[in-house]
Amino acid sequence: MSKSPRRSKAQTLAGRRQFFSGNLSIAYKNPLKIVRGEMQHLYDDVGREYLDAYNNVAHVGHCHPRVIKVAQDQMAELNTNTRYLGDQIINYAERLAATLPGSLNVCFFVNSGSEANELALRLARAHTGARDLVVLDHAYHGNTTTLIDISPYKHDGPGGSGPPNWVHKVPLPDMYRGLYREADERASEKYVGHLSEVVDKIGRGSLCGFIAESLPSVGGQIELPESYLGAVYSEVRAAGGVCIADEVQTGYGRIGKHFWGFESYGVTPDIVVLGKPIGNGHPIGAVVTTREIAASFANGMEFFSTFGGNTVSCAIGLEVLSVVLEEQLQSHARAVGDLMLSGLHELMSRHEIIGDVRGSGMFLGVELVKSRDTREPATAEAEAVVNNMRDSGILLGTDGPFHNVLKIRPPMPFNREDADRLLSTLDKVLSL
Ligand SMILES: Cc1ncc(COP(=O)(O)O)c(C=O)c1O
Repeated sequence: MSKSPRRSKAQTLAGRRQFFSGNLSIAYKNPLKIVRGEMQHLYDDVGREYLDAYNNVAHVGHCHPRVIKVAQDQMAELNTNTRYLGDQIINYAERLAATLPGSLNVCFFVNSGSEANELALRLARAHTGARDLVVLDHAYHGNTTTLIDISPYKHDGPGGSGPPNWVHKVPLPDMYRGLYREADERASEKYVGHLSEVVDKIGRGSLCGFIAESLPSVGGQIELPESYLGAVYSEVRAAGGVCIADEVQTGYGRIGKHFWGFESYGVTPDIVVLGKPIGNGHPIGAVVTTREIAASFANGMEFFSTFGGNTVSCAIGLEVLSVVLEEQLQSHARAVGDLMLSGLHELMSRHEIIGDVRGSGMFLGVELVKSRDTREPATAEAEAVVNNMRDSGILLGTDGPFHNVLKIRPPMPFNREDADRLLSTLDKVLSL
């Protein structure tokens, strides 16, 4: 078997600079050269073990043996596309649809979350005949030209040039830092009011839909007010639009109490978008929608993705889903997530810098502030915490508009002992 030559870490870094663009970012002040992964652990080039509390893509664990075996076997047997009949794609679609509300039963397979969101937008436009879309502030939905257009996190950030006129941004319902906060009993209603204004402005017949992550991640691991999505979905539908749930980060049992993020709010979207975890690192994206929307999309133009829905991807996708269900990772996420939440609240009682703890299951955020009164974001401090945690052997990241929210989003095998280790290490790091 041919193996590419091993480079020193310095040579690898130099190679990055030589062959890649400067906007390909590297995590941590002291970058990691990871050479191996096993479940919730990663190993660097000198054999040091890291507890991975950040990488949600390796949903059932880095290099899960069942996923590897299925991938190897299927690769050795056949890999072809959707123009031939095959059982792998049917088995996968059947099992996936069974996890969703009954109305969501037509599946499309693509190769990334971005492709899936692009397709969701095409479906919404084909169905409504309209173009305008409402998005949440600070949202991120992918890296294509159109998705940058609908992602305020990108088009309002460095290098961005704002939204096109068909994109309408409404405030992120962030109850800690947003326009209306936890002390305001009418906060949710007021946030919905911004959407109503947009809908009035656009006018019936021009609204294609609304897209949001069920728990906005780049926005800072935000849990939406309980009644928000229900009210928004009603208004959007009344104006002729469709509701798209971006579950790229929040689906597949991660939030513990439900399999899908949108279920926390008692709503059923018209289109659900999946990505990251569903291939456990193998590039798979998916869109699941209603029969009616799929019928509008089947307008004579063929839909084909060369690699989307290929035999190997579907075999892997099915195995990942089977592992999630058979290893009961959703209830595991809930139990370990509850432990983490109570531990984080305990840390909050002793460390003034923690302004807020939120999230659910294995999708948590810890917001760091310079002062609890002013809620001034502790951005530099959050960066230092993440780097110190990395030096202590635990991988975390930051997110939120001010990059001051510690993001905890581990592979799902992350267990009680790992939670204890993370909490005690964070305690030490926060005490530095
Ligand atoms: C919520 C959300 N949607 C879509 C995407 C795009 O997915 P991909 O990077 O697989 O294209 C991302 C990626 O970070 C995401 O976080």
